[in-house]
Amino acid sequence: FNVVNASYVATAVNTSQYPEGDLQEIAFIGRSNVGKSSLINSLCRRNGLARTSGTPGKTQTINYFRITGKLPDDSRLEFMLVDLPGYGYAKRAQTSRAAWSKFIEEYWMTSTRLKLVCQLIDIRHPPMESDINVYRWLIEHGLTVQVVATKADKLAKSRIQQHVRTISAGISLPQLNPDGRIIAYSAVNSDGRNELLDVIKNILLK
Ligand code: GTP
Ligand code: MG
Repeated sequence: FNVVNASYVATAVNTSQYPEGDLQEIAFIGRSNVGKSSLINSLCRRNGLARTSGTPGKTQTINYFRITGKLPDDSRLEFMLVDLPGYGYAKRAQTSRAAWSKFIEEYWMTSTRLKLVCQLIDIRHPPMESDINVYRWLIEHGLTVQVVATKADKLAKSRIQQHVRTISAGISLPQLNPDGRIIAYSAVNSDGRNELLDVIKNILLK
């Protein structure tokens, strides 16, 4: 399974701005600066598709990207990747229970086309309280979650599995991931890309 086309579709901060149509959606959530936008660019092999920054709080809106995937039998599969603002960024108001703004909660509650939430956690650190709370919140609201450990290139190869286990233990509900495990990912060298594309394909075809 691979991405053959990717294009920006829409930006939204309320339901009336969601794009029309019935394409299935895969959303990306995680702390500010964890690498959500970079991961989308890496999946699509298109630098600059989603805007990234070294400064936390870059993405402030819901951004939709329309993707064409090519299956092994050469047929095409259209779907949306949805880039979201990060949580845990001190400069933004955090009134919502799960520490994100109202319009993000609204997105979770109203997006009937949402098939999978990829929750990104920095591979270098154990999950923070906000990560654990967000994970629980998503599961409690019936969403399917795939945890992705980002920036794997920042660790020596020999340490990656140990850090993945720490994240798995910290989240403490690993059995609820679609295939029961965490994907270590690097937007720099594409580690984990095939594995994540495979998870996405399987969810979309289910
Ligand atoms: P917000 O939109 O602010 O919530 O951030 P984000 O989660 O979208 O992060 P973004 O993709 O903008 O990346 C944040 C920083 O991390 C940038 O400086 C990226 O270059 C860097 N980064 C992202 N992914 C990786 C990765 O896999 N490896 C390395 N080494 N750096 C990464
Ligand atoms: Mg971003």
